[in-house]
Amino acid sequence: MRFVIIGAGQAAAQAVATLASEGFSGSLTVVGEEPYPPYQRPPLSKAYMAGDFVRERLFLKPEAFYAESHCELRLGVTAAAIDRAAKTVTLSSGDTLAYDRLLFATGDRVRKLPCPGADLPGVYYLRGIDDSDALRRHLVAGKKLAVVGGGYIGLEVAAVVGKYGLHVTVVEAMDRLMVRSASPQVSEFYRKLHESHGVDIRLNQAVTAVEGKSWVEAVATGQGRIPADIVVAGIGVVPNCELALVAGLACDNGIVVDEFGATSDPDIFAAGDCTNHVSFHGKRVRLESVQNAIDQAKHAALAMLGKPTPYREVPWFWSDQYDIKLQIAGLVQPGDTAVVRGDPSTHKFSVFHLRDGIVAGVEAVNAAPDYIAGRRLIAARARVAPERIADTSVPAKQLG
Ligand code: FAD
Ligand code: APR
Repeated sequence: MRFVIIGAGQAAAQAVATLASEGFSGSLTVVGEEPYPPYQRPPLSKAYMAGDFVRERLFLKPEAFYAESHCELRLGVTAAAIDRAAKTVTLSSGDTLAYDRLLFATGDRVRKLPCPGADLPGVYYLRGIDDSDALRRHLVAGKKLAVVGGGYIGLEVAAVVGKYGLHVTVVEAMDRLMVRSASPQVSEFYRKLHESHGVDIRLNQAVTAVEGKSWVEAVATGQGRIPADIVVAGIGVVPNCELALVAGLACDNGIVVDEFGATSDPDIFAAGDCTNHVSFHGKRVRLESVQNAIDQAKHAALAMLGKPTPYREVPWFWSDQYDIKLQIAGLVQPGDTAVVRGDPSTHKFSVFHLRDGIVAGVEAVNAAPDYIAGRRLIAARARVAPERIADTSVPAKQLG
């Protein structure tokens, strides 16, 4: 059997590991556009950007792992076209790879600022090692940094660069921070946290232009002009599914896969950020997380080997900002009931989310026991009374 994996990120590394542990002995090739073997991205906006994490630790596996797994890494080359009838992948180098089973692990790419001036030098994004390195070179005390987007990327960068002595302004289009995945209670906590560290948070302001002559000088919003020596935009990501789309695979905000990781072509699978899949709560989602990349890749690799098992793991995510760890599990929906446990002013609290009385999500701020309990309760679809959740005299592990 000939297996080809397109993309050399978190999901690809896990698929190789799962195939190896299952004793796959066919030919295995991973095609990666970046010049690096698979690496972890989370430190790029956290400890690595802070200078507290050496580059070698970013790589998910030692080089020997790929040789031992009989996996050939083709790096710095892009998969440019797929011929599903001939079962081949054509690379940007002109080479063609034949496959029996193909895995898309193409992740996503940053959404670029669509406004005038966005291509000025001094405007940065953060997705890969090179982005993090490029940005770090400009982290100099006294400079003014404008962060566009109050999501995870923007806020983690804002938290780290304070250490370098920059003046930071975060400009967020919506009325609260991390609006895509955090509850209003958690958003409000983070607004206060950043402000207490001297970050200027501007809500309800969309950046509509980047100004400057030969280098960025300011960002403009409907409410005025914010001077800036550097701009970092973290305004979301776009799934890399064009190749799949052109090949005729079903795509809808990601490559559509079933619970085993199969696409609309039974010989082609997909895992990680690039997929639109059915999550544990039975609804279609596209997740952007390490957990999803790892767990979905395990299932997809097993399915490629003809051993399909459904992907039903509870999603989880984390974010580090200053000395605060946010841990999220489950998927919250509009209409869920939020129950706060603990006092946000102590910098240690959590928000549980109930759907029809059943625990559906938890956000834990420096509250690991609540997070662990929450994950267990979500997986068990446990029913817990809101009063009991809010009662901090009940230890987290005794909830439910
Ligand atoms: P990726 O890791 O993006 O890998 C996809 C790879 O495929 C890329 O290298 C891409 O270049 C390559 N590729 C795409 N198209 C082609 C092609 N046609 N040919 C060849 N190669 C191709 N998640 C968390 O859970 N917690 C965090 O705290 C967190 N922090 C993050 C911080 C940063 C700065 C970033 C950028 C992400 C963070 N994430 C975090 C998200 C997490 O890193 C992603 O969810 C994860 O990397 C997804 O893995 P993936 O394999 O699906 O995609
Ligand atoms: N001006 C101001 N804010 C904007 C603008 C704009 N022109 N356009 C978008 N935004 C805001 C959105 O309202 C949103 O709150 O940018 C924010 C982007 O937040 P996320 O969607 O969380 O995206 P980002 O922070 O870029 O993170 C992308 O990286 O950390 C990983 O996997 C994680 O999913 C996350 C991904």
